[in-house]
Amino acid sequence: MQKPKLIVDGKRLDGRGFEELRPIKIEAGVLKRADGSCYLEMGKNKIIAAVYGPREVHPRHLQDPSKAVIRYRYNMAPFSVEERKKPGPDRRSVEISKVSREALEPVIMKELFPRSGIDVFVEVLQADAGTRTACLNAASVALIDAGVAMRGMVTSVAVAKVEGNIVLDPMKEEDNYGDADVPIAFLIRNDRIESIALLQMDGRLTLEEMKKAMELAKKGAMQIYRLQREAIMKKYMKEETEEPEEENEQ
Ligand code: CDP
Repeated sequence: MQKPKLIVDGKRLDGRGFEELRPIKIEAGVLKRADGSCYLEMGKNKIIAAVYGPREVHPRHLQDPSKAVIRYRYNMAPFSVEERKKPGPDRRSVEISKVSREALEPVIMKELFPRSGIDVFVEVLQADAGTRTACLNAASVALIDAGVAMRGMVTSVAVAKVEGNIVLDPMKEEDNYGDADVPIAFLIRNDRIESIALLQMDGRLTLEEMKKAMELAKKGAMQIYRLQREAIMKKYMKEETEEPEEENEQ
């Protein structure tokens, strides 16, 4: 297929400026059976995150007597992409699960939960580039919703190079036909970016471009962080005002 024109009159294909995020929607506590959960949309990406634990680890030999074991499973639904994805793990999802777990692990206060396990499941219902970043954002909210003690929030966004421009939060066409894609996650603590939790890169950037990409990612991440916080606050305000739900066991 011929490469489409991605920037027209200084605007991107979906009308965004270079420094604009896609519309984001975040809701915490959407699943009754999970200890914590989150539904998140970032543009056309639709993600559900569910957290179970801290709970007993099975099989038991995986237990760590000094801290919690964190497991993270990234999964794409077969119907989430244009060409049906074969169900089950593949190299890509195993890689994304690993790097995402590693981004979250240092933020979770694992030492408070010896011998236990915390399982994070993220399901991509609809994908449109940047799913690993959207999933991390959802997972972070779900972990907080589960009451897991955290050192801060993990907030993630990608930056891309498209027709010579550094742009925030690339969508599918920009990811496919752009010159570089850089997913980044930050640890945000006390409303400040403290460190980088994940940094990957496809393609090539000059040092100057990389600096610009990092600045743009930081700006975008702070906006997403505020929405993550808002979603958590909303959930807790709701819990405070709501009467406890009667269990309707059948
Ligand atoms: O989603 P993310 O950008 O984190 O990862 P990627 O490997 O760079 O994939 C970019 C996009 O390609 C995904 O978000 C999907 O929209 C698409 N994709 C697909 O159509 N079919 C797959 N089997 C995997 C990815």
